[in-house]
Amino acid sequence: MNKRRRIYEGKAKVLYEGPEPGTLIQHFKDDATAFNAKKHALIEGKGVLNNRISEYIFTKLGEISVPTHFIKRLNMREQLIREVEIVPLEVVVRNVAAGSLSTRLGLEEGSQLPRSIIEFYYKKDELNDPMVSEEHITAFGWATPQEIDEIMQLALRINDFLVGLFLGIGIRLIDFKVEFGRLYDNDQVRLVLADEISPDCCRLWDIQSGDKLDKDRFRRDLGGVLEAYQEVARRLGVLTETPRPRGAGPVLVASNTPINGPVTPVNGKPN
Ligand code: TMP
Repeated sequence: MNKRRRIYEGKAKVLYEGPEPGTLIQHFKDDATAFNAKKHALIEGKGVLNNRISEYIFTKLGEISVPTHFIKRLNMREQLIREVEIVPLEVVVRNVAAGSLSTRLGLEEGSQLPRSIIEFYYKKDELNDPMVSEEHITAFGWATPQEIDEIMQLALRINDFLVGLFLGIGIRLIDFKVEFGRLYDNDQVRLVLADEISPDCCRLWDIQSGDKLDKDRFRRDLGGVLEAYQEVARRLGVLTETPRPRGAGPVLVASNTPINGPVTPVNGKPN
């Protein structure tokens, strides 16, 4: 692709200037990080899988009227998105005790929570993304009380939908992290789901075996990271079953999913 302006580089993605004002290109890298990037590795093919899995989930959420930044997938690693102002919060929804919640409250991993719980973390790498309360969020102006209400409603709708989606393919959705952005449309501001939803930011356990099919395989040195992501993609129906030579990497089926925004040809090239 021709030279594009890089707007932002994160741990697992790069954002480039889009073909039209108000759009960006989100590029999925193969980098895997944990513990605020203290641990790092390249998992060849992860970016391709996350691009496809996230496209699938955002498209499905769009179909049930969850507003998102997603416009269309462009190629194996990139998608066209709407430019938003990211709300500096990581919004975690938990159904089952695991990870930092288990550690913090001494809960056995895998125990069902009395109800779904939402937590907020302030997005600030220098501070290791500390957990914050609604008091902090409103006092420091990271989001308004109305925005917090809307974020919580959206997060719970997303959770309800994802729990069902994953249950249908034999996966228990333990918890996940999402991010939201403000979309400026003329003089209107809307909150939309942004970033990505993939095994990088969810805990996904196989219902039968309890096997972890997510980034905990990397965080906890369990091995088989790519295979787990491939399994999620396969069950979602976004990975071809065709056997390929070893080392050939994953193959993705062509997208035939509808888009939840106007079709914007990039540089006049067909999708
Ligand atoms: P935690 O149990 O480590 O707090 O993680 C909760 C969920 O959030 C889990 O699904 C993993 C996800 N997550 C991220 O996506 N990014 C992060 O930086 C962290 C710490 C967690």
